[in-house]
Amino acid sequence: MKDEYILGIESSCDETAFAILKNGKELLSNTISTQIATHVKFGGVMPEIASRLHLENIGYVFKECFETAKIDPSQISAVAVTGGPGLIGALQVGVIAAKTFSAYYNVPLINVHHLAGHIYANQYGGDFKFPLIAVIASGGNSEIIYMKDDLNFTIVGETLDDAIGEALDKIARELGLAYPGGVSIDKLTKDKKIKPIKLPNVKTSGYNLSYSGIKSSLIREIQNLKKEGKLDEKTVESYAFSAEKAFVDQLLKKVFLAAKNYSVNQIVIGGGVSANSYLRKQVYLLNKSNYEILIPPLWCTTDNAAMIAKLGYIMYKKGQFSSLDFPALASVELEKRA
Ligand code: KG4
Repeated sequence: MKDEYILGIESSCDETAFAILKNGKELLSNTISTQIATHVKFGGVMPEIASRLHLENIGYVFKECFETAKIDPSQISAVAVTGGPGLIGALQVGVIAAKTFSAYYNVPLINVHHLAGHIYANQYGGDFKFPLIAVIASGGNSEIIYMKDDLNFTIVGETLDDAIGEALDKIARELGLAYPGGVSIDKLTKDKKIKPIKLPNVKTSGYNLSYSGIKSSLIREIQNLKKEGKLDEKTVESYAFSAEKAFVDQLLKKVFLAAKNYSVNQIVIGGGVSANSYLRKQVYLLNKSNYEILIPPLWCTTDNAAMIAKLGYIMYKKGQFSSLDFPALASVELEKRA
């Protein structure tokens, strides 16, 4: 049988990434150019700068990706690209590259949903066993999703306000920690015994989540401590851990509740916050019913094109192609809602 090569492209936020996947399994290259060092100065991603940097870097990333994979662009079977959600100017750079490639080499074009890509990143760690509960925990989204089958997404719960990563980033910024705040909080609290501050239990309906109440109250307390000159190193650690613990505990409580009520085989976690050390430990500690747990390998938790190529391969096999005029969209639903 002829080998099948999927080219994956990702440019939805601050990473310009290309990857080549052979026969759905063998990752020949996974090239990422990250812009974090530039955005760190602003304490967050600056959309206009992100678009310009994608444009500046994309040619080099493309070249390196093919050099590493040691194949010729003419061997590619299909090109899969993140079409949304994300920053519109940033998305457009990757989408234009994908369309040009698809038109020139006359290969199918596949429009991949960024969040679905984060879910399928898990397939670099193991196979899916449906039905399953998938979790997206990232800077822009916190969603609990029921999946009966491949590419079949039903959102059963979501944040009613801030995303988990967004709330962590805002608290970290107030604590004077570097962007991305979730990463700084993790580094600061990992492997330490820190006594958390007692926080109220947040009550939300069903499998929904809410982070802004705790975030605002912690930020107010931190501001007061700063005014009084009482924000020392130990207090920063304590606030960082309290936020991390409260947010992750709330998420996992709802995830296990959904897993039980939907009688699933597996829990699959994706998105940037799935890199969090506390979350990665707690999910196993709380797993009293022995669900199979999949969390992506650390290299695959943040934005990358390997996950886009992985999902792209599944869509390729199902013949889910897009025409050359599909638009990049800042906001796109992940299918059905419960
Ligand atoms: O999925 P992602 O790379 O980008 C999108 O939001 O699409 O997620 C980024 C988020 C940021 O809020 C970042 O602070 C958080 O993921 N994050 C973490 C960790 N690594 C990334 N949060 C907690 N612990 C981490 N180790």
